Amino acid sequence: QLSGFTEREGAWYAEEIPLADLAKEFGTPLYVYSKKALTEAYQAYDKACTDQQGKRRARVHYAMKANSNLAVIDCFKKLGAGFDLVSGGELARALAIGADPKSLVFAGVGKSATEIASALQAGVKCINVESIAELHNINRVASKLNCRAPISLRVNPDVDAQTHPYISTGLKGNKFGIAYHEVLKTYREASQLPQIDVVGIDCHIGSQITTTAPYLDALDKVLDLVENLKREGIVIHHLDLGGGLGISYSDETPPDITEFTNTLLNHVANRGFAHLDIVLEPGRSLVGNAGVLLTTVEYLKPGVEKNFCIVDAAMTELMRPALYEAHHGIVAAQTKELKSSTYDVVGPVCESGDWLGRDRILSVEEGDLLAILSAGAYGFVMASNYNTRPKPAEIMVDGKNAYVIRAREKTADLFASETILPN
Ligand code: LLP
Repeated sequence: QLSGFTEREGAWYAEEIPLADLAKEFGTPLYVYSKKALTEAYQAYDKACTDQQGKRRARVHYAMKANSNLAVIDCFKKLGAGFDLVSGGELARALAIGADPKSLVFAGVGKSATEIASALQAGVKCINVESIAELHNINRVASKLNCRAPISLRVNPDVDAQTHPYISTGLKGNKFGIAYHEVLKTYREASQLPQIDVVGIDCHIGSQITTTAPYLDALDKVLDLVENLKREGIVIHHLDLGGGLGISYSDETPPDITEFTNTLLNHVANRGFAHLDIVLEPGRSLVGNAGVLLTTVEYLKPGVEKNFCIVDAAMTELMRPALYEAHHGIVAAQTKELKSSTYDVVGPVCESGDWLGRDRILSVEEGDLLAILSAGAYGFVMASNYNTRPKPAEIMVDGKNAYVIRAREKTADLFASETILPN
């Protein structure tokens, strides 16, 4: 699945450029993305979203929370994607690249009145509502702005996506969406509110999901609701199925993007809902395997119980292992004929949770370059400045060319907006 990254004669490349050259030129830690890889992932969705007559069956709204660098979202915009947003900040990014407001859907459990107002003023396609209280807040904000608010209710379908509990969202114990049994009642209420236009229905059951079955369960439950709503005269124009398709980090075997999308779209059509506009909100499956994090080995520290390979990246650059015990492949960017050892790959941050890989067999010495694989999604966007560590640079490779798409932060900038007391 790592289509933009290949190993040739013992050296890893991003498209046509050796990773070692990128590290030399731009330093480490360094995020490197492949334009080819993200383009191919998008096209795999697009293939299923267009039928044989060229008619659009569904639209991809890239969930930019996975990687919101302007260059990344601009690539997707140029490929034809819309966006799924979860904050005023992400809305600002979408507007900064000139995305069509009608290609934006705005989700999130705790949208503030200011964020709702910005979304309405921008003219987004839809606000995905996650509670009855939020519905009323949207109505109030729209009334103040003297406009109408297009909304969709996010259904919590209570299905088990069988993924990590922190990234499962469609169970009744999760904070997300409107409880299944309250959805019809809430639509009735929404349709009575003066500033609200009911336009859609949506759900999102979780992330890094590796089977299609939970999607079909959720889909059936949501389509049942659409049927019931129609009977009551409430017309739903679009059905947003969220994101969540997993990628292969190690031995997972998620369904192929095109096959997965076809299965969902065919299911919608077979149940007689081909007239609905279908929206998909993939994040990880578009960018996850289109990025790596490069890091340099600082020290090798043999121990009694464990050997440590201490690198210059940390939980501050890639938080997923610390937060979810997530597995990312780690490879030496250049193969060396050295004795291999088993290491825990760890960062310099003052936390025992600061690890990037456990029990990895590596043939490395100090100064070597490692690539942490599948780091394109939820990598840089979750980076922090803990321990006053500047965020790394981000590079996009396109064939033989490498572009700095985010400059490395400067240490002095990290505290430039702080002030000490006058005396
Ligand atoms: N739509 C909604 C409403 C979402 O909440 C999410 C992700 C997506 C779409 C995109 O899901 P994806 O296709 O990327 O799975 N930080 C975690 C993942 C959090 C996902 C949050 N919601 C991780 O690193 O695994």
